[in-house]
Order: sequence, then C-alpha cells, then structure tokens
Amino acid sequence: MSTKVVLVTGGTGYVGSHTVVSLLEAGYEVVIVDNLSNSSHDVVARIESISQRAVTFYQLDLCDAAALQTVFDQHQFHAVLHFAGLKSVAESVQVPMEYYRNNVVGSIQLLSCIEQHAVPYLIFSSSATVYGAQAIPPYSEELPFGEPTSPYGATKQAVERLIHAQCARTSTATTLAAVSLRYFNPIGAHPSGLLGELAAEQPNNLLPIMLNVATGHQPELAVYGDQYATPDGTCRRDYVHVMDVAAGHVKALSYLECPTIHKTENVRAIDPYCHQQDQHLHRSQYHIFNLGTGSPRSVLELVRHAEQIINISIPFTIKAARTGDLAEFWADTHKAQAQLNWHPQYDIVEMITDAWRWHAVQYPPNTD
Ligand code: UD1
Repeated sequence: MSTKVVLVTGGTGYVGSHTVVSLLEAGYEVVIVDNLSNSSHDVVARIESISQRAVTFYQLDLCDAAALQTVFDQHQFHAVLHFAGLKSVAESVQVPMEYYRNNVVGSIQLLSCIEQHAVPYLIFSSSATVYGAQAIPPYSEELPFGEPTSPYGATKQAVERLIHAQCARTSTATTLAAVSLRYFNPIGAHPSGLLGELAAEQPNNLLPIMLNVATGHQPELAVYGDQYATPDGTCRRDYVHVMDVAAGHVKALSYLECPTIHKTENVRAIDPYCHQQDQHLHRSQYHIFNLGTGSPRSVLELVRHAEQIINISIPFTIKAARTGDLAEFWADTHKAQAQLNWHPQYDIVEMITDAWRWHAVQYPPNTD
C-alpha cells in the first residue's frame, strides 16, 4: 500500500506542529506549507527529530496562488489539514483586513486548489469562538453560529461556511468530505520539550502569560475580573492538552476515510445547518466536532495548579474585566467521544507540566 501524503497548512505553528508529529506516527507522509509569520523554520527539524521521519517543507503564503498551485502540482494529496491563519482576538480588532486576507482569502485559494486537484478530505482548524457570546455552555455542535465577538471569530465562521458549501456542492459530483474541529483552549506542549507555543513578546493567552510571570519576564499576572457569575468570580475555560488536540485530527481523518459513515449516519440530527437551510443537500459530507475536555477551570484555579506544579509563586492583581471576555464556556464532548472515539488523555497537571518544560527552556528565568 502506498503512503498517504497529507498537506498541512500552518504545520510549523502551535497546534499544526504537534499534529504533524501525530500524523507521522500514524504512518502518513507530510508536506508542510507555512509562511513562518508566527513560527520558525527550526520547528521542521524538531518535528523530524521527534518522529525520526522526514517532512517536506515549503515556505509560502496561502494567498500566493501561483506558489500554492505549484505545490499541488508536485504532490497528489490524500488530505489537507488546514491550520494556517492568524489567531489573536485582540489583534483582529486592530487589523481586521489582515485577518480576512490571511484567514478567508487564504482559505479560498486553498479550497480552489483542493477542488482543482480533487483532494477528497479536508480538516479545518476552527474554534469555540464560532458559538458566539450568547450560547449557553456546554456548547454542543448542534448550536447555530452565534454573533461573532471579534473579526477573528467572524473569519472562523466564514471559513466553516465556505467549506460546508463546498462539501454540499461537490457531494453530487466529486467527493470532498470535511471536518471542522472546534478547539476550546489548547495549552501544553510536546512531552519531549521540543515543541510548544511560541510566546510572542506580549502573549495574549493565559498560560504563556502566567509562565512568563513565573520566569520573571513579566512582573505579575493581571486577572481580568473576579466578579463573574462563576464559583470563584474569575472566568472559566475548557483547557485541553495540545497533544489531545493533535490526536483529534488523526481520529477525524480516520473518520473521513471510513467509507460507510457518509452513507449511514443520521447527520441531520447533529448538523445545525440541516435545520436551517438547503435540507436536500447531502450534509453527510461535512462534520463538526468539539475538541475540549468538558471540564472548565477558573483563572485562579490555573494559577494555583501552576504554582504547585512548578513550585514558583505567580503574583497577580485583579484588574477590570477584559472587553469581550465571556464568563465561562466549555465543550459538550459527547459527539467527539461517540463518533471519533476521541477521549482526552492528559489532565491539567500534565498540561501545565509539559507547558512549563517547554517554556522554561525557550524563555529561561530572568536572573536580573
Ligand atoms: C481566546 C479565543 C479562542 C482561542 C483562544 C486560544 C475568543 C472569544 N476566544 O480564548 O477562540 O481559541 O483564545 O487562542 O475568541 N486572562 C487573564 N489574564 C490574562 C490573560 C487571560 O485573566 O493576562 C483570562 C481571560 O479573561 C480568560 C482566560 O484567562 O478568562 C483565558 O484567556 P485566553 O487564554 O486569552 O483565552 P480565551 O480568551 O478564552
């Protein structure tokens, strides 16, 4: 049997790089395209060192249609896993055009190549942000899209809609089948310490900021609000280990590869689009799954866990609530468990331990 070649866009990024390792371990051959705007080329060598397998890498932007076309001309892809995109909520409010260009225009170029080359499977890196501000947790895949809370969220919705439309269109002609995986809050790092999240000068997400405080790179943590209607007044999120998120992609790909599911599944019961429009279309080509643990943790819980695990105190001050933050949300995980047989393996201690192993080496403690 010949090896299946998978294209991973954004494969040197945080979730993308961990997923490439999981794909290689599962026996796929991997081609990465990445513009390196938020990652670095040495991630390729780190992936190869962990997996003891070679990957093919192209530095290119998905918006460069000609360069992307050349990659598709050179390989016959079995599947595309699409991670490439910008992901900062705050930045998306400042430069929405950049978010639409990278995330939406880039995805249009990619889907155009997928269509031209009749690639059968696509997995998209989506986010729980698509549920919007009004949804009541736990978020189930049956919920319709909510009002987006940022341009970033709007681009995730737009790309999901585009993929869904392509699946519906091609279901009677060619055969694109796709999954959107809606991540909750991925944290952690590869247990080897070789891969993790690159914390920019000013990281936006809670755990990298907390670890920067622990290493002395930031003086203290600002806890955004302690008057929320949650058990300790701080926001609660569904943190999930990036290794589990990576494993979810391999499960999703096996799910798409299984020829019976597209015919047998009662997708109308689980696909929100089916209730709304175009009910005659073959929805079973398009699937949505949440990737979260289903267990929310508060900001203060995370601080306490981290202090215990790394044995360093993390000073914090309560500040005003951050604009646009939701009090709490977490995943309804039943669908991913039942249909993908995906069960998160890593607990909160492992999430923080692995993140710290990576972070403390990349950003050594400030001894000044
Ligand atoms: C955001 C995005 C989500 C994305 C995730 C990870 C939205 C609504 N959310 O989630 O789509 O998947 O980032 O990239 O689009 N906090 C502090 N102090 C800090 C930083 C954060 O108290 O310095 C708190 C926040 O108020 C929040 C929690 O920590 O309650 C987690 O924040 P963060 O890591 O930024 O993730 P989200 O905003 O939940």
